[in-house]
Amino acid sequence: MEFLNNLIQKIERKHIVIAIGVVIALSLFIYIIGALGPSEPKLVLVGTIPDNEYDPQEWGKVYPLEYESWKKTQDPRPAGKSFYKKGWDTDKIIYDKLSEYPFMALLFKGWGFGIAYNEPRGHWYMRIDQDEIDQSRTKAGGVCLNCKSPYMDALVKQYGNSFYSMKWQDAIAKIPPKHKDLGATCIDCHDNKTMGLKINREAFKKGLAKLGKKEYTRQEMRILVCAQCHVTYNIPKNEQMQSIGLEHPYEGSSWGNISIENIIKLIKKNANWGEWKQQVTGFKVGFIRHPEFEFFTRQSVHFNAGLACADCHMPYKRVGSFKISDHNLMSPLKDDLFACLKCHPQSKERLVKQIKEIQDRTISLLLKAGYHEAVVAKLFERIHNQFKDTLASDPLYVQAKDFYLEALYRLIYMGAENSIGFHNPEEAGRILGDSIGFSTKAEGLLRQLLAKKGIDVGQSINLELAKYLNNRGEHKLMFKREQEFKDPFGIVEKTVPRGSMGL
Ligand code: HEC
Ligand code: HEC
Ligand code: HEC
Ligand code: HEC
Repeated sequence: MEFLNNLIQKIERKHIVIAIGVVIALSLFIYIIGALGPSEPKLVLVGTIPDNEYDPQEWGKVYPLEYESWKKTQDPRPAGKSFYKKGWDTDKIIYDKLSEYPFMALLFKGWGFGIAYNEPRGHWYMRIDQDEIDQSRTKAGGVCLNCKSPYMDALVKQYGNSFYSMKWQDAIAKIPPKHKDLGATCIDCHDNKTMGLKINREAFKKGLAKLGKKEYTRQEMRILVCAQCHVTYNIPKNEQMQSIGLEHPYEGSSWGNISIENIIKLIKKNANWGEWKQQVTGFKVGFIRHPEFEFFTRQSVHFNAGLACADCHMPYKRVGSFKISDHNLMSPLKDDLFACLKCHPQSKERLVKQIKEIQDRTISLLLKAGYHEAVVAKLFERIHNQFKDTLASDPLYVQAKDFYLEALYRLIYMGAENSIGFHNPEEAGRILGDSIGFSTKAEGLLRQLLAKKGIDVGQSINLELAKYLNNRGEHKLMFKREQEFKDPFGIVEKTVPRGSMGL
C-alpha cells in the first residue's frame, strides 16, 4: 500500500487520466478496425438445408442476407463506370459484341455466334437470356444447360447422354417448371450441410481431374466454384453433328499452367471437336469459350499473390451489424473498386486509371489481331472462289492455313475472355502478339501463292463487313455504329484502312 501511495504521489492524477484515456481509445480503435477490416464473415446457423434443395428461397430462410444479396444480380448495373464491359446497365442497353468488334461478324459467320453475341449481364439472367437470344445459338441442344441450369447433372442422370443432344425446347421442358428460369444458385456452389464451397458439376470435375491435383484449399475453392462455368470447353459432335458431351481441353496441362498452346494442340488433335464451319473460309473449326479460369490462373500477378475470383468479385461487405460475402457479383469497376481498395493503398482514381491502361492496350492488340485475321479469311475466300480446292495441297497454302488457325484460336480466346486483359495483362499481350504474328505470316504466304498464279490482290482487301453485320438472324439485327470499339492508339487504321472495312 505504501508503495502504491508513493507511486500515486509521484505520478500526477492528470497522467493517470491520460493513461486510462489512451487505453480506452486504443481498445476502441482495435475494435473498429476489427469490425471494418476484411476478416471473414462469421456463419450464424439458424436452420438446416435438406439434401437436393434447389430452391434458393428455402436456403434464404436460413441465410437471408446472402439470399437478398444474390437476388440483386437481377438489378441493372450503374452505367458509365466500365469502359469495355457494358453488359446491362442503368442505360438498359444490351451491348452487342458483334457491333463492338465488327471483325467477329465476319469470322463467326456460319453459326450462332455470328448472328447474336451479347456482352454478359447479371447471373439472374443466365437462363432467361437463352430464350431471349436468337435461337440459332441454342442449336447444340440440351448441352447448353450445363452452365445455365442447376438441374443439368440431375437431367443427364435421368435421361442419359442423349440429354446432351436433346432438342433445345424439349430439354428446357424437362426442368421443373417452377425453376425453368433459375440460373446459378446456392446449390451450385455450396454444400448444404456445412455451407462450405463445393463443385457441383460432373463435367467440370472430370475436366479438373486431368490437371492431376487432388486437394484444393479453401482459397482455391473460391476460384473453382466460378470455374464450373467461367472456363472453356468443347462440345464433341457425332457424324450427324449432334452434341455428344462436354469436354475440357486440359490433357497435358497442370494447375496454374493451362496454356493456350496446349488448348490449341488438343482442338487440332480431336477431330470431333470441330463444332462449326466458318463460312468465309469453309474451314471446319473448334471453338473457345470464356476462359476466365485458364487465363487468370496462368501465372497472373494476382493468382501468384494467392488471390481468388471471389476476392475481387465477392468482397466482404457489411449489412446492418453482419458481415457477408457480397453475392451480387459484378464488374469491380461498377462496384467502385470496393474490393480492390481493401488491399491497395492507392486512390480509387489511380486504380481505375491502371485498369483502363491495361484494357486500352489489350483492346488495341485485339482489334489489330481481329482485322488482320479477317484480311486472311478474305484471301482464303478469294482463293477458294477462283481455284476451288485445287491449291489445297500447295505447301504455301498448307502452311498458311495452319498459321491462320493458330491466329484464329488465340484471337477467339482473347475475344471471349471477359476482363479485356485485366485478369492477366502480360499473358494477354503475349497471346495477342502471337496471333498477330501468325496472321501476318499467313497473309504473306497467301499473297505469295496468288502472285505465283499471276494475281495481284492489291494493297488492301475489302472486308465487306456491312454484309456480315446487317440483317442478322430472325430479328434482323443491325450494326450499331455507336457501340463499335476503336483503337485507342489509332494504329489499326494504319494497317487495315477504314475505307477497306466496308462498314
Ligand atoms: C457462384 C457461387 C455461389 C453461389 C451461387 C452462392 N454462393 Fe454463397 N458463397 C460463395 C462464396 C465464394 C462464398 C465465400 C466462401 C468462403 O470464403 O469460404 C460464399 C459464402 C456464403 C456464406 C458464408 C457467409 C458469407 O457470407 O461469407 C453463406 C451463408 C452463403 N454463401 C449463402 C448462400 C446462399 C443462401 C446462396 C443462394 C441464395 C448462395 N450462397 C449462392 C459462392 C456462392
Ligand atoms: C452456373 C454457371 C456459373 C457459375 C457457377 C458462375 N457464373 Fe458468372 N456468369 C455465368 C453466366 C452464364 C454469365 C452471363 C449471364 C448472362 O449474360 O445472362 C455470368 C456472368 C458473370 C459476371 C457478369 C455480371 C454482370 O453484372 O454483368 C460476373 C462478374 C461473373 N459472372 C463472375 C462470376 C464469379 C466471380 C463466379 C464465382 C464466384 C461465377 N461468376 C460463377 C455463369 C456462371
Ligand atoms: C484482382 C481482381 C480480380 C480477380 C482476382 C478476378 N477478377 Fe474478374 N474482373 C476484374 C476486373 C477489374 C474486371 C474488368 C471489369 C470491367 O472492365 O468492367 C473483371 C471482369 C470479369 C468479368 C466480366 C464482368 C462483366 O461485367 O462483364 C467476369 C465474368 C469475371 N471477371 C470473372 C472472373 C473469374 C471467374 C475470376 C477467377 C477465375 C476472376 N474474375 C478473377 C477483377 C478481377
Ligand atoms: C486480396 C488483396 C488484393 C485485392 C482484392 C486486389 N489486389 Fe491488386 N494486387 C495485390 C497484390 C498482392 C499484388 C501484387 C504485388 C506484387 O507482387 O508486386 C497486386 C498487384 C496489382 C497490380 C499490379 C499488377 C502488375 O502487373 O504488377 C495492379 C494494377 C492491381 N493489383 C490492381 C488491382 C485492382 C484494380 C483490383 C480490384 C479489381 C485489385 N488489384 C484487387 C493484392 C490485391
